[in-house]
Amino acid sequence: MHIARLIDRNGSLHEQALRLVHDPDHPFPVLSAKFKLTWQCNLACTMCNIWRSARRGLGVPGLDPDRIRQALTDLHGQGLKKVHFSGGEVLMYPHFREVVDQARSLDLQVNLTTNGTLLTKELVRFFIERRVHTVTVSLDGPDSRLHDRIRGVKGAFKAALNGIALLRARRARKGRGPKLAVNTVVSRATIDRLDDMHRLLLSLEADAWRILPIDTEDPELRPTRDQWDRMFERIPDWQPLLSRLPLDWSSERSGLRAEDGKYAGVFYGSRICYAPWFNLFVDADGKIYPCCTGKRDMTPYANLHARTIEEALASAERREIAYTMASGHPFPVCDCCDDFLEENTAFHALTHPEEHS
Ligand SMILES: C[S@@+](CC[C@H](N)C(=O)[O-])C[C@H]1O[C@@H](n2cnc3c(N)ncnc32)[C@H](O)[C@@H]1O
Ligand code: SF4
Ligand code: SF4
Repeated sequence: MHIARLIDRNGSLHEQALRLVHDPDHPFPVLSAKFKLTWQCNLACTMCNIWRSARRGLGVPGLDPDRIRQALTDLHGQGLKKVHFSGGEVLMYPHFREVVDQARSLDLQVNLTTNGTLLTKELVRFFIERRVHTVTVSLDGPDSRLHDRIRGVKGAFKAALNGIALLRARRARKGRGPKLAVNTVVSRATIDRLDDMHRLLLSLEADAWRILPIDTEDPELRPTRDQWDRMFERIPDWQPLLSRLPLDWSSERSGLRAEDGKYAGVFYGSRICYAPWFNLFVDADGKIYPCCTGKRDMTPYANLHARTIEEALASAERREIAYTMASGHPFPVCDCCDDFLEENTAFHALTHPEEHS
């Protein structure tokens, strides 16, 4: 289920979307949701803080499965179409299969992101039986040298490729199964290896590739402007595997802005983000936000362990975020965000048809 396409094709969503800027309280369905089920992880990636807080004992046990079940049921009643499970390492969450079962019993599209090292034959069989839509495996380099260095554990590359091989073999035998997507975090260390990554993914018969610009406070970890500019020239050769542009590239200064971590480029200079209406993010400690990136800057709507989804959506915190956005003032963190550029382009085309005719 592609949210941008859904927005394009659904007339009643058009009507509702057109009202939001003038009436941020106008009902609009939460179409997609992401749950970080746990912060626990078996790897120790250089660019990721989740495993560090989990190991320092700051981690929480993870989301209460009963609360997730209730939330999925409530959100489904409000129009939810797809759910994404992530973490930490999602396959370390003890109630993983239960929550997937619940989501599928509601006929939600289920996608998940994993480091791939814990995939087993049984899990792959489970994904196929439950008709999980997409399994995204993270690969940050085309060989064990680079991938293992970034992932902080020797053998991580081999284990992830074994997981992918299990998925492909079972899919081939059954003639159906989840799509295989791959995420690659683009950093100064990985950006010059993307051609090799592309070749590897073709050989693995991946269905989609997402390159994620590194989210970091450390400018030394970010690619330089020249590296971004060179990467941008290569993008046509990585089609159709590369399913989305990693940055807003609509301005000549995009490479310069990306060097500063401003991946949204100039996108939100003239547009707003509709995530506070169509999306929901629940972190492993239960805090609810409009989106994953927003947790850096925004006050949570509520905590899933203390409030229902309906209470969270009606909260003063959520309304404040929706009103701020509708008034044309995206949050400072929105400048650094690479999420939902496609979806927001679809919304913008609806609300400003003259610019897209
Ligand atoms: C936080 S991980 C959780 C799922 C799983 N543990 C994994 O590694 O795939 C979700 C995605 O975020 C990516 N990621 C981790 N740290 C990142 C960072 N600093 N900037 C951008 N993406 C990052 C991971 O590579 C992965 O594709
Ligand atoms: S495997 Fe995923 S959650 Fe674990 S440290 Fe790496 S990016 Fe973070
Ligand atoms: S631009 Fe990104 S951080 Fe800002 S509200 Fe949208 S999804 Fe969230």
